[in-house]
Amino acid sequence: MVEIGADGRTWLLSGPTSSYGLRLGDEDELLHLHWGPRIALPDTEALAAGPGPEYWAFEATLDGHEEYPVEGGPRFVRPALSVRTPERRGTEWRFEGYETAGGETEGGETAEGEAAEGAGGDELRLRFSDSGLGITLHYRMRAGTDVIERWVTLANEGPALEVLRADSATWTLPQRDGWRLSQLHGRWAAESRLVRSGLTYGEKIIGSRRGHTGHQHLPWVALDADGTATEELGEVYGCALAWSGTWRIAVAQLPDARVQITGGAGYDDSGLLRLQPGETFVTPVFAGLWSDGGFGGASRAWHAYQRAYVIPDAEQDRPVLYNSWEATEFDISEEQQRALARRAAEAGVELFVVDDGWFGARTSDRAGLGDWTVNRDRFPGGLKPLGDHVHGLGMQFGIWVEPEMVNPDSELYRAHPDWVQFQPGRKRTELRNQLVLNLAREDVQEYLWEQLDALLSSAPIDYVKWDFNRAFTDAGWPGEGYPQRLWVDHVHALYKLLDRLRAAHPGVAFESCSGGGGRIDLGIMARTDQVWTSDNTDPLDRLAIQHGFSQVHPARAMAAWVTDSPNAQLNGRVSSLRFRFVSAMAGVLGVGGDLTRWTEEELAEARTWVELYKEIRPVVQGGELHRLRAPEGGLSAVQYVRDGEVVVLAWLQAQHYGEPSLPVRLRGLDPSASYECLETGEVHRGAVLLHHGLRTGLRGDFDAAVIRLRRM
Ligand code: DGJ
Repeated sequence: MVEIGADGRTWLLSGPTSSYGLRLGDEDELLHLHWGPRIALPDTEALAAGPGPEYWAFEATLDGHEEYPVEGGPRFVRPALSVRTPERRGTEWRFEGYETAGGETEGGETAEGEAAEGAGGDELRLRFSDSGLGITLHYRMRAGTDVIERWVTLANEGPALEVLRADSATWTLPQRDGWRLSQLHGRWAAESRLVRSGLTYGEKIIGSRRGHTGHQHLPWVALDADGTATEELGEVYGCALAWSGTWRIAVAQLPDARVQITGGAGYDDSGLLRLQPGETFVTPVFAGLWSDGGFGGASRAWHAYQRAYVIPDAEQDRPVLYNSWEATEFDISEEQQRALARRAAEAGVELFVVDDGWFGARTSDRAGLGDWTVNRDRFPGGLKPLGDHVHGLGMQFGIWVEPEMVNPDSELYRAHPDWVQFQPGRKRTELRNQLVLNLAREDVQEYLWEQLDALLSSAPIDYVKWDFNRAFTDAGWPGEGYPQRLWVDHVHALYKLLDRLRAAHPGVAFESCSGGGGRIDLGIMARTDQVWTSDNTDPLDRLAIQHGFSQVHPARAMAAWVTDSPNAQLNGRVSSLRFRFVSAMAGVLGVGGDLTRWTEEELAEARTWVELYKEIRPVVQGGELHRLRAPEGGLSAVQYVRDGEVVVLAWLQAQHYGEPSLPVRLRGLDPSASYECLETGEVHRGAVLLHHGLRTGLRGDFDAAVIRLRRM
């Protein structure tokens, strides 16, 4: 809902529990009034009429109060918009007008990284201009959620200008005694790890200057006032960026105890792109959410938003997948894949995916990337016979690709050495023996479209795992001026290619992978069906990675595989099949071990777990998540609830002193209802489960349990 003050200069957007208020000042400055619990229009007007910010010579009146601080004039906070022409730098805008659009938004520009479907929501557009540059600020409260999507359109009708920085939004948080920041940091094989720290004065910057979202930070932050929020209680503000390239989020604690969070595409301030007369740039969405349900409530609200507006076909459950990578790496053949597929089908798998190594001269990571034709030594009849075999076993068939890359040892590179990102006279840095294609080039875009379209038409392919295994290092396009658009245009081209492939092959699902979880963000999630969470498949490390991931993204998108023990990829850790399965059942279950080496007993046990997963899947993938105990201690647990069905997954790393593990207190139940445990047949009172907890019966090392309860 958008409400407008009588003078047409105050606006209030409201969702089910929250409101967002802003006002246009006398000098056309756009002032932030409120973001927090739901309020009424008169409250907003009272805020607008209240005492303004104090002013003295060394502080700027506007700092900490503006919706979208531009560079120039009496401002010292981080500018969200910084542009320059040969004559001058900065912006002095005039207000042009506003529009609102209710329900299904029509006619408005869509944002980059925006969900492919589900345009529901109320939108407010505020238009400004400066010397021919049109600046539109977009606000959209997604229907039924408290998520506000913000983005900005720059439409240049004036002389050419350089956009040094164009953030999607600045979010302003109210004055509080103190603020605590939650972020998800990591590196390869250790992504999405949650860390909380008190915010101090100055700025905290996270981001990526790598050309992809990066393993180092998820583009998300949460702030709780006074550091008092718990898992179930307290005010939490969160912001998440829908962008899969280089990005930055700056969290600034201002001197007056306000916080401003500014985020958008690009890392540095030195130049994003040039805007010629007649050109338009639309920033990605930077979404914000206020919740008073603690960190758990905020996560559930983010999950509901993504299921409703971001993830394609989120109402459809994802199948149980098998992926051969950890079992075979590059050493693959049709016969071996058929053998794995037969074992996978026996285990109850529903989607069989051939990973790297099926194309070109790709027998190691040194050659073949870029040549998307089947290696006939390995698959003499192409991929179709294997695809048919997999379908005959009752499974869907998937393949791995890495379209944005090329090995110098490839037909593609030999034919088009100028198709990569490079700078003349400089080294072409190889990482994993590969270079990055310049996707800003239309010929490269067209080549990839033709190759992938032909590939998807050549065999019965239902699923594509789309990988990206190195960062940008030599991002240059000889002949193109600076700032080089390829940082931004690469992401646009990637999105366009995915959109085009999805439209042409509507039955095909896509997975976003980047050496594990290097490309997880709301932008890529709008175009893929699930993401590869991490190359770390150790079931214990995964609990922490999944705990972090779940802060913002839902289980419906979080792929997790059961692999071999001892863990061959990382640490040699020995863990029970039970522990490995229950760990992976917290997301979209997959199997990634060498099934030809699993014993018949292990395969039979796997089948039992897969069957159980299929039963609980609608609750795990579509239910509300409650994190009952974080994975730091020996015992951790999560719970999913959907329509009276409850699933608890619990893990015990190690039992000490023979002590029984503590009961876990459940959440989100009706205290006055009774719940039957499907495992034991016992009946529990809701109030007892909520206040005294459920005994998991876990003991020893690497024990785990799935407990199902049904409301009676
Ligand atoms: C990195 C991915 O994360 C792995 O799962 C696998 O697909 C390899 N790339 C293949 O090169």
